[in-house]
Amino acid sequence: MSEIGFPLIIVNFKAYPEVEGEGALSLARTCAAVAEASGVSIVACPPMVELGRVASSVKIPVMAQHVDYRTPGSATGWTTAEMVRRTGAVGTLVNHSEHRLNLDDIRAVISACKRADLKTCVCADSALTSGEVALFAPDMVAVEPPELIGGDVSVTNAKPEVVVEAVRTVHQVEPSIPVLCGAGIKNGHDVKRAIELGAKGVLLASGVVKAKDQRQALSDLIRFI
Ligand code: G3P
Repeated sequence: MSEIGFPLIIVNFKAYPEVEGEGALSLARTCAAVAEASGVSIVACPPMVELGRVASSVKIPVMAQHVDYRTPGSATGWTTAEMVRRTGAVGTLVNHSEHRLNLDDIRAVISACKRADLKTCVCADSALTSGEVALFAPDMVAVEPPELIGGDVSVTNAKPEVVVEAVRTVHQVEPSIPVLCGAGIKNGHDVKRAIELGAKGVLLASGVVKAKDQRQALSDLIRFI
């Protein structure tokens, strides 16, 4: 369970009030319990301030939501890839829709992560951008149409063609890079559809973090895997 496997569910905790303080550890433990019981690979992405505590407390892979490209040293207020690796986290999201970077910075962050042995899941807002970021050889690409993020309509229902096209553009560059999809993913049917469309998993947030019963929401998500 400590390795990232596929199909993969990445739960981005974002900065929701539900994951402030103890909430982050509690949700990460729920992710770990569901992963353990089901054998499905689930990654937790807690807020940066809880990263170390969460990474040292659960056996599932933990990733940061963002990391900076700076090298260790005089870099006040920046978070280096080395610092993230030292927490026990195994990777990071890069270029999330709510934390956008330009292409040069995405390339620099990926290279900083390779230096520190951190896996990268680079987010992209379209199929075209997915292909562009694939050129930097990330470990995964996650396509997420921004207008569907946080909503009730899943990308797999509203824009299935974006998922199919993102898989195609990424695999034109490098067939071994797994492509995930996200935005509005809420249940097991959405995850099943994502896999049918060629994705290797999903990146989601509100469907789990804001759920009345987080464990139930996670169990539902993985029920067809
Ligand atoms: O990082 C996950 C994301 O941006 C999608 O959010 O709430 O639509 O699952 P959500």
